[in-house]
Formats: sequence, C-alpha cells, structure tokens
Amino acid sequence: MILKNKNDKIGRNDPCPCGSGLKYKKCCLLKKGTGYRDIKNLYLQKYRIRLKEKEDIEGIRKAGQLAIELLRLVKDEIRPGITTDDINTLVHEFTIKNNAISAPLNYRGFPKSVCVSVNEVVCHGIPGKRILKDGDIVNVDVTPILNGYYADANQTFFVGSPSSETRKIVRVARESLKVARSMVRPGNTIGDIGWAIQKYAEREGCSVVREFVGHGVGFEFHEPPEIPHYGLKGKGIGLVPGMVFTIEPMINLGRKNVLILEDKWTVVTADGSLSAQFEQTLAVTENGYESLTPFDL
Ligand code: MF3
Ligand code: CO
Ligand code: CO
Repeated sequence: MILKNKNDKIGRNDPCPCGSGLKYKKCCLLKKGTGYRDIKNLYLQKYRIRLKEKEDIEGIRKAGQLAIELLRLVKDEIRPGITTDDINTLVHEFTIKNNAISAPLNYRGFPKSVCVSVNEVVCHGIPGKRILKDGDIVNVDVTPILNGYYADANQTFFVGSPSSETRKIVRVARESLKVARSMVRPGNTIGDIGWAIQKYAEREGCSVVREFVGHGVGFEFHEPPEIPHYGLKGKGIGLVPGMVFTIEPMINLGRKNVLILEDKWTVVTADGSLSAQFEQTLAVTENGYESLTPFDL
C-alpha cells in the first residue's frame, strides 16, 4: 500500500515519457498524434496499468449506469426493519434482470452479491440476518459486470433519522470523495489524491483507513494501480488520459485502525467508532475526469 517510487511523477513541463522529446503537456497529455500508443505501452510495462480506449470507457460507463441504478433502487428500500440480506436480494435480482453479473459473488470466496457495511463496519460486510434500525448508517457497495466490463461504486445511507454523529461522518466521507475527485486530471499524481483526502478528513478530526485502497477497474475487479486515500502531494504515478480507477475513502470518526472479523471478510473499526465511505469509478480525460458511476456528492 505504500508508494515506493519517488520518480513516477510526470510534470506538465517534463519531457514526455513516450520519448518524443516534447514537453508532456504538448504531447501525450493531449492524447494526440503518435504518442498515445507509446504511453499505453509504457504504462503497461512500467506499472502494469491497462489504459482504456474510448470503446472500453463506453462499456464501463454502461456498467456504471447499472451501478447507480442499483444504488438508487437500494436507497428507496432502506428503512428500519429490513435486513442486510434483503439488500442482497434486491441487488442480486436487479443485476440478473439486466443481464449483468455481481462481481462480489464468489470473488475470492465472498458469499454474497453486494457488500453491506453497517455503522462500525468499515467495508466488506457480508449480508445476513442483521436488521437495520433507526439511526444506523449503512454502506452499500455494488460492482456489476456488464458485457465483461466492471464498474464499482458505493454510497452510505441513513436508516431512519440521523444523529449529529452519523451526519458528521457521512458528510466527511462524502466530501472526502469530492475533494479527491477534484484532483483527478493529467499532470497530477496518485499521491495528490490521497494527500487531498487526508488533509481534509484529518482537519475535520476524522481518520483515514490505510489498509484498503482504491484500484484500477474496468477489465477486472481489481487492477493496478492502487489508489491510497492518504499520501504526499506530487508523489506516485502520473495521471494520464485513459486511466480508469476507483476512489473510495473509508473515513472513521475515531481512530484509523481496523480489525478483520473471524469470517475473514468483515472489516470493523478497532475502537468501535462509526465509519463511512463513498466510491466512484473515474476515467481520466484530457482535461480532468469523467465519473463513470456519476451521482451527486
Ligand atoms: N467493492 C469492493 C471495492 O470497492 C470490493 C469488494 S470485494 C468483495 O473494491 F469480495 F467483498 F466483494
Ligand atoms: Co472498489
Ligand atoms: Co466497491
């Protein structure tokens, strides 16, 4: 999870990594001419990152539309009294009805079609008999595969009426994704993303989970690179058009430490404090980003 290579950043004025001799901003940053093929190869060789073509992004965008429909559907059903398994049923059936597959199901032995994480559960909650009660927060993380393309997104919802504590952690988690998203453009680095989240969330008195990171996505569930939600400005791999990855900061109201339960999946805060998360799949474009799982933040 630690970014080791100090020399990965490509500045706008640096020589283009494709070897053209031009400045990066005058070459592959523009994704024009012959440079793009070369940078695609460079990113594959150097980082194992598979840059996406227009038609790939189109495919992920369609999967992303299904992801946000799923989240909308779930949102409307969330109320005190339903179980986390009810959410699983909803996600599973709607996914199948749309000729898609739920990536979580049987992924490394995960037994359900969606992750449902309540209150102190940070992520990877397994749907089951737990009944949602008034005042809970619940994160629902969906990853449909449509025509072979993966899109990954999650949101944290209030169950019934929120307390001032649940309001705060959900606000900070939401805002964390928003500040992170605003860093996504060619010439910035992966480190810039984590840096922006950490600076914002810690200033709000919250903490950032270290053990789980965002990731490349699209052709597979989890592809290179890792996207840490903490870090240093200017460090890490340079962002280039065609990169598609998630940002999914897990923000705790208390300390950052987490534990994994006996079921080998459920991640909880070590201090029992509330945790919230929002996730989107983003594509780096020539002048910024496009969310392929767009919902308002
Ligand atoms: N959707 C999660 C993510 O954002 C991964 C869940 S893995 C599972 O990366 F097996 F628990 F589904
Ligand atoms: Co993800
Ligand atoms: Co996810």
